[in-house]
Amino acid sequence: MRTTYVLFVISVFYVSVIHAAILKPGPRYGFLDLIQSVNHIVQDTIDIVFGETEDDQDLVTSYDDAILNITQLGQKYGYPVEEHSVTTDDGYVIDIHRIRHTKDVTNNLVVFLMHGFVESSDSWLLQGPGKALAYVLADNGFDVWMGNARGNKHAQKHVILDPKQKDFWEFTWEEIGLHDLPTMIDYVLNVTNKENLYFIGYSQGTTSFYVMNSLKPEYNEKIKMMFALAPVAFMSHVRSPLIKMFSPATNLLGNFLVNYDLPNTDFLTSMTDTFCSKIGFACKNMLHSIVGQDSNLLTKSLPIILGHMPTTSSTLQLVHYGQLVRSGRFCQFDFGEEKNRETYGTESPPDYNLTKVTVPNVVFFGENDWVADPADVETLISHLPHIHDSNFIKGFNHLDIIYADTANDLVYSKILKYISDLEVTTN
Ligand SMILES: *[C@@H]1O[C@H](CO)[C@@H](O)[C@H](O)[C@H]1NC(C)=O
Ligand SMILES: *[C@@H]1O[C@H](CO)[C@@H](O)[C@H](O)[C@H]1NC(C)=O
Ligand SMILES: *[C@@H]1O[C@H](CO)[C@@H](O)[C@H](O)[C@H]1NC(C)=O
Repeated sequence: MRTTYVLFVISVFYVSVIHAAILKPGPRYGFLDLIQSVNHIVQDTIDIVFGETEDDQDLVTSYDDAILNITQLGQKYGYPVEEHSVTTDDGYVIDIHRIRHTKDVTNNLVVFLMHGFVESSDSWLLQGPGKALAYVLADNGFDVWMGNARGNKHAQKHVILDPKQKDFWEFTWEEIGLHDLPTMIDYVLNVTNKENLYFIGYSQGTTSFYVMNSLKPEYNEKIKMMFALAPVAFMSHVRSPLIKMFSPATNLLGNFLVNYDLPNTDFLTSMTDTFCSKIGFACKNMLHSIVGQDSNLLTKSLPIILGHMPTTSSTLQLVHYGQLVRSGRFCQFDFGEEKNRETYGTESPPDYNLTKVTVPNVVFFGENDWVADPADVETLISHLPHIHDSNFIKGFNHLDIIYADTANDLVYSKILKYISDLEVTTN
């Protein structure tokens, strides 16, 4: 009986999407918005059919938080979110977000947070007050800045290009590290009138950080300490089937997308949106196949997280990751021998020189992480010249490190301690 209803609902979902797509062609974003709105209708229908499984207040909160944007979320919980806009040297216009210390506590310190793949600044607020990293830092007196990567929902503008053009999407996380991060960091240092700041990166936010500091080593001076949450650089032990699909070893999607000139846009987003009509179990399984099993996420958090991610990204970001899985190296994009010779002067792409990343690093990584596998994180640690400390977290997968209910105890409170210890010794 229930199965029939679910099948019915899902059919309605697909029919509506396909129907609307035919009726309303045009930019893929319009299409995605549409899927998202249909998702909400599907969710409501499922609730009517199945009844509500959690208590009403929780449900109201999670629905709200799934739909509210970053400004509205901060406002709801009493943390005004400032929006600033920067333009990179190659023309991308990126909105970044800031939450200042609350109450009268200020420690006069600036922290910059950089999100992971297919995420945005939203990610740092989703667990809510007392739990989400942005709020925890603000409560402790920090001036909190949250960056965004070109192409995500807060960064779909360019001085010349249009996101509907393929050229807009010709970038990987190398460009995010070479252009977006330096622009944002310089902007933040300028506005706050500081010489350096604390950097907290998650997943791709760490990849881009290591690109920046190896190719533009002058940025080591601007970072007091780097907190690497589930860092991704070496990838030969990746267990995530989704990322493996993009590894040229299996010669599947990566080459297909690159060679056949498909728009390098939001392939993953539409895929996840299609699979995840916010029906808890299906989504959870899908997510697990990407990030690792045995999640510590609360079922309640799932709709909130999925209301905000995945956001758009360039498919080339995933292709570049796939290349690292195959090569086992942390290196620049592989265009093929001929174009490599043109671009780099060598047949194979050069490694990012991690010896140049001299900033002190504190690393956090999880036992069940299928993306930042512990063996690969150990390789990264062995290449970084200045490891301040590392923390292995039993049972955590890739998402747990920022979304688990216990992340505050196991990760954030430790970050606060490292910072206060450092401030005591340097002042
Ligand atoms: C959030 O939504 C409000 C109301 O629609 C809008 O004014 C605001 O600019 C939005 N903020 C972001 C970051 O999109
Ligand atoms: C720093 O800020 C000042 C004043 O807001 C501005 O004039 C200047 O161009 C900024 N410099 C950089 C490098 O952004
Ligand atoms: C990497 O950087 C270090 C420190 O600047 C330098 O000594 C070394 O030669 C570099 N390695 C390569 C392969 O360029």
